[in-house]
Amino acid sequence: MSQIFPKKINKLLPLLVAIKLIVVVSAVFFIWYYFSPQYTDVGYRPVQPIAYSHKFHAGDLGIDCRYCHTGVETGRFAQIPPTQVCMNCHSMVGKDNPKLAPLFESWETGKPIQWVRVHDLPDYSYFNHAAHIRAQIGCESCHGNVSQMEVVTRVKPLSMGWCLDCHRNPAPHIRPQNMITRFDWKPTDTQITEAQKIMLEKNINPKTECSVCHR
Ligand code: HEC
Ligand code: HEC
Ligand code: HEC
Ligand code: HEC
Ligand code: HEC
Repeated sequence: MSQIFPKKINKLLPLLVAIKLIVVVSAVFFIWYYFSPQYTDVGYRPVQPIAYSHKFHAGDLGIDCRYCHTGVETGRFAQIPPTQVCMNCHSMVGKDNPKLAPLFESWETGKPIQWVRVHDLPDYSYFNHAAHIRAQIGCESCHGNVSQMEVVTRVKPLSMGWCLDCHRNPAPHIRPQNMITRFDWKPTDTQITEAQKIMLEKNINPKTECSVCHR
């Protein structure tokens, strides 16, 4: 027997086991990595506690995004409006609409509505809305045409690669100031020259160093 399996194998065995373990672990990591949220969450549209429609309110009624997302130009977070903002209108309209029952309940009890987050970066990464709005990037570039969404849906991967693609070449995404919250803007033939002018004027120069987004 010792002829067929030379002594050396006893020393090799732990190594073989170790190699196999590495293969298995990296296969698991590979699967976890590619199927983890950043690659599959495009299309994510959780059911919300109230069937609030952006298509109706922002699209048909034409309420500007900033009426509700008040932090978007000034702060890190766009913010989800408190019940009070809905009540500006719904203290008058929709009193008997059963779809609004959870809103009135929240108003009476003072308990905030538990909206489910659609976009949520991991804690180790840093994002800031105001910096992007200042640079004249529209909501549409990152959230799609929300004014046509009955239910808010994730349309971009929000992966690091996606962030970096634009940071390396933002010009195609920079639009006129008055089009930030609009969805009827299309780039023209002069897009790049116009964008470069804005970038020069406002000193827009997105960074790609790790510490910009991991601080
Ligand atoms: C009348 C108030 C109101 C207006 C106007 C409004 N929103 Fe919202 N928005 C909400 C509420 C409430 C939620 C949370 C529920 C949901 O996701 O539908 C929300 C959620 C969102 C989300 C998802 C947030 C998350 O969890 O990641 C995005 C993106 C968004 N809004 C973008 C917009 C854009 C773009 C506009 C303008 C076209 C807009 N909203 C106009 C009230 C509003
Ligand atoms: C600028 C006024 C205004 C604001 C602000 C507003 N709504 Fe409305 N909403 C309306 C009007 C008008 C209707 C249609 C009422 C009707 O059909 O009786 C409506 C209808 C609705 C409906 C019923 C839709 C259906 O299919 O029956 C829901 C649910 C609703 N709103 C939720 C909200 C929530 C949640 C907020 C706050 C994030 C909000 N609304 C803010 C004006 C507003
Ligand atoms: C450059 C891409 C980008 C642009 C432009 C952008 N967003 Fe966002 N938005 C994000 C990302 C990324 C998140 C998730 C942030 C996080 O998890 O910290 C987010 C989250 C949100 C949220 C939910 C949480 C919060 O309070 O931040 C709302 C609401 C929202 N965006 C609305 C808007 C509106 C309205 C506009 C346009 C005025 C806009 N966004 C423009 C990328 C963008
Ligand atoms: C569509 C283009 C675009 C996308 C997508 C984008 N960015 Fe940016 N980002 C910019 C521009 C333009 C600036 C402004 C740079 C300046 O003013 O010099 C910026 C600036 C920033 C800043 C600097 C903010 C500050 O405080 O100075 C951070 C942080 C940032 N982006 C993070 C992110 C992250 C994280 C993502 C992905 C989740 C992302 N960005 C996606 C275009 C983009
Ligand atoms: C423009 C913003 C931005 C810059 C610059 C950036 N990152 Fe990230 N990074 C992100 C975001 C956003 C995520 C989270 C991605 C997700 O959830 O899929 C991330 C995730 C990661 C992860 C977790 C693994 C992964 O890929 O999901 C690592 C590790 C990482 N970054 C390292 C780095 C290093 C190293 C650098 C510098 C060379 C860097 N990042 C520069 C935005 C950035």
